[in-house]
Amino acid sequence: MLITFEGIDGAGKSTQVTMLKKRLQESGREVLTLREPGGTAVAEQIRELLLESKHEITPVGELLLFAASRAELVQKVIRPALDKGSDVILDRFFDSTTAYQGYGRGLNLELLAEVNRIATFGLCPDITFYLDITPEDSLMRKFSEKSLPLAFDSEELDRMESSGLEFYRRVREGYHLIGSGQPDRIVMIDAMKTPAEIHQLIVRSLENTICDSGKNSS
Ligand SMILES: Nc1ncnc2c1ncn2[C@@H]1O[C@H](COP(=O)(O)OP(=O)(O)OP(=O)(O)O)[C@@H](O)[C@H]1O
Ligand SMILES: [Mg+2]
Repeated sequence: MLITFEGIDGAGKSTQVTMLKKRLQESGREVLTLREPGGTAVAEQIRELLLESKHEITPVGELLLFAASRAELVQKVIRPALDKGSDVILDRFFDSTTAYQGYGRGLNLELLAEVNRIATFGLCPDITFYLDITPEDSLMRKFSEKSLPLAFDSEELDRMESSGLEFYRRVREGYHLIGSGQPDRIVMIDAMKTPAEIHQLIVRSLENTICDSGKNSS
């Protein structure tokens, strides 16, 4: 199955991806974890451009670079892994495009839906865990991680992080709209719970999957 994690920077996605990977592997499943953008040699170079470039990128340029990275990853890695029967856990997928480039940067949502469809070849997650956190709390986490004093526009922050608090507020509202529009796919989780509590909620959502696999392997 294809499982994705979403949420603004610092929400705890990578933490939960690692915990879930371990849990699924313990129940006998093959698991591949990937982060977006990246995951192939070409896509990793696009990642560097997007996150580390000092040059300004236009919003449409940014959109298409993310889409190019995603198309690479879907066709070369995700599809083949799913076809082999592996689980794939993605740290961000097309909902990030809708939230960041759409609601955050203000690009046309219909255009984004079309670009997302092209970049994913129509592939949709079976389940998405959205970790909800305020931009203020997420920045506190990031700053304490980097041992920086709390100040915005620090040069230590990467290009995406330096877009400012207002931007992250729009992105978060975007995620809320995306989530409430697709309640069957997207599980909304309070990211201020402890990592263990969040993991438990995630495991419970996947209970049938995890138990079925356990039975098969025993
Ligand atoms: N539930 C939690 N409660 C408190 N701190 C947490 C929680 N989950 C993760 N953290 C801490 O918050 C920081 C950010 O977590 P993590 O890297 O998992 O977030 P992320 O969503 O992957 O961020 P990014 O989008 O920047 O990759 C880390 O220092 C992590 O240890
Ligand atoms: Mg992360």
